[in-house]
Amino acid sequence: MKAAVIDRGVIQIQDVEKPAPKDNEVLVRIRATTICAADYRLRKFGWIIGLWRRGKPLILGMELAGTVESVGKTAARFRPGDQVFGGTGFKFGAHAEYACAPESRVELKPANMTLEEAAAVMFGGLTALCFLRQANIRAGQDVLVYGASGSVGVFAVQLAKHFGARVTGVCSTANLDLVKSLGADNVIDYTKEDFSKAGRIYDMIFDTVGKAGFSRSLKSLKRGGPYVVIAPSGGLLSIVGDTFRQMWISLRGAAKMVGGLPRPVPGDLSFLKGLIEAGELRTVIDRRYSLDQIGEAFRYAEAGHKKGHVVILVEPAVAASSGPRA
Ligand SMILES: NC(=O)c1ccc[n+]([C@@H]2O[C@H](COP(=O)([O-])OP(=O)(O)OC[C@H]3O[C@@H](n4cnc5c(N)ncnc54)[C@H](OP(=O)(O)O)[C@@H]3O)[C@@H](O)[C@H]2O)c1
Repeated sequence: MKAAVIDRGVIQIQDVEKPAPKDNEVLVRIRATTICAADYRLRKFGWIIGLWRRGKPLILGMELAGTVESVGKTAARFRPGDQVFGGTGFKFGAHAEYACAPESRVELKPANMTLEEAAAVMFGGLTALCFLRQANIRAGQDVLVYGASGSVGVFAVQLAKHFGARVTGVCSTANLDLVKSLGADNVIDYTKEDFSKAGRIYDMIFDTVGKAGFSRSLKSLKRGGPYVVIAPSGGLLSIVGDTFRQMWISLRGAAKMVGGLPRPVPGDLSFLKGLIEAGELRTVIDRRYSLDQIGEAFRYAEAGHKKGHVVILVEPAVAASSGPRA
């Protein structure tokens, strides 16, 4: 099968062995996958992972949607021919024509979505859902979503609205209409306005990009309220400083810090599917690329300004389009 193999940070389309499902896995013929933040962050450290994988080709890609080709011995929930969406988890491998995923990590595709739309649900959707839950979101709260236009942000806005919050989304000028269209009650353009200077106090701050700033956020957060930070404020070195700051904030009781890794529970993907089918949740696809164009797709996503998702269309017969589309 064809796959996008990373060798010391360089991506090449190569022929590699088609994977075989383990007992609890399904083998999916992939129609669409994405470039998510985990992919573009890991590409830079591909050489380290390459050493650890001892010569096995490194294929990134966490999200997928496609058709079940075969199932493992104990994977009884799906049959060949089922159209599914979900992810491979930290084994990656979805930037390819086929990938195996644990059956617990996939669901039947929502009836009202195409496979390419469904491929862009798992990463941002589960991340936003898990952190909102860990932050104990409740109806009636005022929630600020900082970085409301990325793949986590677009789901955080919609899910916070689903849970009954009043949502303020912070994004740049070009994304104001998008974030409003996702249901945000207010939008703030970070290129023109500092959210912390408006004098408004929020019950929860969800910083999806690590750029809201600790002191600005604390100034705008109810004392002891949940403050979700899921990304470092700068490069790798900033992680240490961020960690100490977060510990200090918690110790002082200034905020309840929420972060680390999301903790999905069984049923989360099916919950998102239900909201999609009820018309409460949608994906935002910024650009589409074919598998052959994956290097270009990585460069675009790595720049840090994608709106929602960058999708890779894998089947050659239908992977004709690329570039921006509304
Ligand atoms: N802790 C975890 O387990 C976990 C899980 C998932 C993701 N993450 C991390 O969360 C971060 C976000 O992920 P993602 O998938 O949403 O990324 P993404 O889709 O690549 O984010 C791109 C978006 O960020 C916005 N943005 C960039 N700089 C901004 C700024 N200064 N202020 C406000 N918005 C800004 C961009 O909008 P503009 O073009 O308008 O600037 C763009 O729409 C990543 O760093 C990722 O590694 C962590």
